[in-house]
This record gives sequence, C-alpha cells and structure tokens, in this order.
Amino acid sequence: MDEAHLRARISEYREAFKINWPHPELSFATKANSTLGVLRIASEEGCHLDVASEGEFRAALLAGADPSLCHLHGNNKSRSEIEFALTNKIGKIVLDHFGEIDMISSLWKKEYATKLVIRLAPGVDPVTHAKISTGQSDTKFGFNITDGSGERALQKCLGLNLPIIGFHCHVGSQLLDPSAQEAGGALIAEFARQMEQLHGYRTQYLNVGGGLGVRYTDADVPMDILDYNRLVTTAVRNAMGRDDFTLGQEPGRSLVAESGVTLYTVGVVKSVPTSTGTRTYVAVDGGLADNPRPALYGSPYTVERAGSVSANHGQFTVSGRHCETDRLFENIALPNDLAEGDILQVLCTGAYNSSMASNYNRYPRPPVVLLSNGGDVRLIARRDSYDEMFARETA
Ligand code: LLP
Repeated sequence: MDEAHLRARISEYREAFKINWPHPELSFATKANSTLGVLRIASEEGCHLDVASEGEFRAALLAGADPSLCHLHGNNKSRSEIEFALTNKIGKIVLDHFGEIDMISSLWKKEYATKLVIRLAPGVDPVTHAKISTGQSDTKFGFNITDGSGERALQKCLGLNLPIIGFHCHVGSQLLDPSAQEAGGALIAEFARQMEQLHGYRTQYLNVGGGLGVRYTDADVPMDILDYNRLVTTAVRNAMGRDDFTLGQEPGRSLVAESGVTLYTVGVVKSVPTSTGTRTYVAVDGGLADNPRPALYGSPYTVERAGSVSANHGQFTVSGRHCETDRLFENIALPNDLAEGDILQVLCTGAYNSSMASNYNRYPRPPVVLLSNGGDVRLIARRDSYDEMFARETA
C-alpha cells in the first residue's frame, strides 16, 4: 500500500466534494480495505468511516477512529451488533428494514446520541456487474421508494420518536458511468422533498453512497473526481431545491484501490495442449484466497513483471496455487523469458483484496506492507501464522 497515494487520493476527493457542497461529509467505506493501518490514515485525513458490521466497527475503534464519526450499515444487523454500536457511541445507524426499527426502539435509551438514517432503494439499475449492483427495486437492501416502504419507515420512526436525520442510498459499485449515482441522488432528494410536503419532515442529511469506478486496466476510464462530484451534487441540489443540509458520500474502491499493488513470486511455468494450440500457465504463490475478484466477478487486472523489462511478450495464463481452476488472469501479455523466481506485480489491488481474503486450502494470508510517506517501509499486517490459523479449533 502506498501511503502518499492514498492520502493524495482522499484529499483530492475531499477537496472536490468541498468545492461542490457547503456541508460535505466524506466517509471511507471500510469494507474496501479494513486493515488498521489504512483506517488510521483515512481517519487522519478527516474521513468518517462507513462500517458494515460489528467487526468493521471494532476495526475502526482499534485504528483510533472517533466512534461518533462512524456509521453502521447492514441488511441483517443482529441485536447484539446494534447494542454494541449504541453503547460504543456510534455516530449513525443506517436502518434497513422494519424489524430493525422495532429493535432499535426497544433498545433505545435517552442518553444515546446516535442518529438514524433510512436506507432507500431508489429503483435505479446501474451498468455494472450484477453481483455489485444494489440500487434497483429488487434488492435485499433498504426500503423501496416505489412501493411506499420508504415513506412508511419514516412515519414509523417519527411515531416512535426516533432521531431520524435523513436518507441514504448506494446504487452499485465500480461504476464508470455516473448516471446511476446521479439518478439515485436525485431520487432520494426528490423523496426527501416530498416527505417535507406530505409530513412536514425536514431532512438534515442525505448520503448517496459510493460506487465511483477505478482503472483496473486501460479499458476502464474512470471519471475525474471533481467532475464526478459536480454531477452528483448538482443532481441532488436540483432535485431537493436547496443545499443547506449535510450531504454524505462513502466511496471505498475509488479511495483505496489504486494505492495497492500485489506482488507474487512466479513458480512453475507450464505449457499444455489446447484445442487451438497451447496455453502457458504461470503459477504464482497466491490466488483465489488473496484475490477472489477474478473468480467472483471475472475482474481483469493489469499484470507486469517487476524489475526487468523485456521487449518480447507472449501470452500467458496466470493461475493461483489453490485446488480450483483458479485462473487469476487469462491470456495476458508477459515477457517471453518469464521464469521461476520472477516477481509479478498486479496493480490496483488496494480494494476488496485483503478485506476479502481467506485461508482457503489453509494458506496463510499474505502480509500487507505500507510504503510510508517518508519513504520507509512498514509492515501493517504480518503474514498469518499456522498457530493462529488453528487457534480456534479442537480436534
Ligand atoms: N456504501 C455502501 C452501502 C456499499 O454497500 C458499498 C459497497 C460502498 C458504500 C462502497 O462502494 P465502492 O465505492 O467501493 O464502490 N466486493 C465487491 C464490491 C462490493 C461492494 C459492496 N458495497 C468487489 O470486489 O467489486
């Protein structure tokens, strides 16, 4: 992880948001990378933290974050998770279903300072991988606007005297075209305006989620952060007819992905016959367990040999070491003289890699190293040890 890159990226987003909105609230979606060292940097850069579980909230606390600057998401939060959040003075909880409203109401004590936000499903279907699209009506997240659930949720919270401050949506992830976020923002702002007309409820807070895409390969052309902020804030302002309230955004990937590089060591290089010729496999000392994204979403990456350059390239398929087909990167160009011991660097792995890693096949998860601002190198997560891998089990 490159600290200078991460800090620069956060400050670029923060400044772009500040230029476009009078009361901006920038959060970092910690699911993208919840390594404590990364959370500490995000907090130091002034980010609030979006946590999606008690575990992510605990990580934020361990990283030194102010709990009042954290907010808790989750479509199926447990009673104990909510209790932990409330007693540890979390800033906001984002409500996802009617049962959760009852649960919070039954746990509520008047000394709690936590504010509540209603998650809406605005009915927007973004252009992205189906598995990371969340704003459409057919989603497990939040209250639908279209079937009246959002309005009923607000009425229920008001009836129970709960401290509702506003509304939230997140329409999807790795979005290279901003129209879904613009539409989502406009729809929840329009909804908030209607709630004022119908129920006299004046919104103090809207959050339009995250979702801005990043450059995994040259085929991905993400929007400029300033342009993106201008479009999204304009959509919200126009639909709401005012901008005297706090607007939140909670990007994950676009803040942290490009700060990360994964280094693999090349092991066996092997050619096999195929129906059309040969395929050359390059096996590396990692795979599905440290980066499940190619297997889950078919995500492409930019892969290079570190160090020495070569003019002559051939076609290779990089595979992991797991007992699966585990093709990480299929038919990519790499130097012809690629050999055992070479280092491959995979770019743009700072988001949804370490946070989605597992111990599949009982491989220890790799360490995370921070190239710090001053140029020195710091281990922010060491490699798993076998002792800790087995510590919670008995034979
Ligand atoms: N807010 C909410 C409520 C979210 O659900 C998400 C992502 C974000 C913010 C941050 O979205 P971002 O800015 O990172 O796009 N594992 C998948 C991504 C799942 C995203 C889930 N929610 C992947 O590796 O592509």
